[in-house]
Amino acid sequence: MARKRVGVLISGRGSNMAALVAAAADPAYPAEIALIVSNRPDAAGLSFAERHRIATKIVDHTGFGKDREAFERAVQAELEAARVDLLCLAGFMRLLTPWFVRQWEGRMINIHPALLPAFKGLDTHARALEAGVKIHGASVHFVVAEMDSGPIIAQGAVAVADDDTEATLAARVLAVEHKIYPLALKLVAEGRARIVGNRVAIAGGDADAGELLVPQPDARRD
Ligand code: GRF
Repeated sequence: MARKRVGVLISGRGSNMAALVAAAADPAYPAEIALIVSNRPDAAGLSFAERHRIATKIVDHTGFGKDREAFERAVQAELEAARVDLLCLAGFMRLLTPWFVRQWEGRMINIHPALLPAFKGLDTHARALEAGVKIHGASVHFVVAEMDSGPIIAQGAVAVADDDTEATLAARVLAVEHKIYPLALKLVAEGRARIVGNRVAIAGGDADAGELLVPQPDARRD
C-alpha cells in the first residue's frame, strides 16, 4: 500500500514533528512526511526539518491580520500543492476555523499534553500539579471544531511524583508524547483508527493505543 503523505503544522520547537520524522524514516512505516508548515518564521523545528531534507513552508499568520480563514487558505494551498493526505498538528499554536477543520475531517490529528478530557487548553502541567492528580499524560485525538476535543486515538500516562515541578513533569510527558504520536499516526495511516461516535475503534486491536507507562507498585512490598 502506498505510504500516506503527511503534512505537519508547527509553531515552535517541533520535537513531536521530529518524532514523526524519525518514525517515518523506517520504510515500513505507513506514512511519509511530505511537508512541514510553520506559522512562525523563527520556529526552531524548521531547521531540524531542513537538516533532514524535508520540504518546509512558512505561512506567517501576522501577514493576514485578523483574517484567520485567509491565513488558513494559504496553508491549505501549500498542503494541496504537496498532495498531503493526512495532517498532524504538532505544537501548532493557532486556533482553527470550522472551515479548515471541515477540509480535514477525519484526516487531521493533534497531540495534547494531558489526559483528555482533563486539562484542555494551555499550561496543562502546572494545572495538573495544582489539581494534585497522581496520573498525568498525553493524548492524540482527531481534530474537531471544538479545541482539544474529538475522538481519542491513543493516550500515554506517567505517575506524578511528589517532588515534580512543571519542568520535570513536562519532560516526562514529552517523552510519552514522542511515543504515542508516531503510534497514533501509524494507526490512522493504516486506516485502522475508525471513528465511531466520539470513540475510536482500532481495527485489529492495538494494546499500545492506551499505553500505561505508570510504574506499577512493587507487589512484594504490599
Ligand atoms: C507539546 O507538548 C504538544 O503536546 C503541545 O505543544 C507542545 C509542542 O512541543 N501541543 P513540540 O513543538 O512538539 O516540541
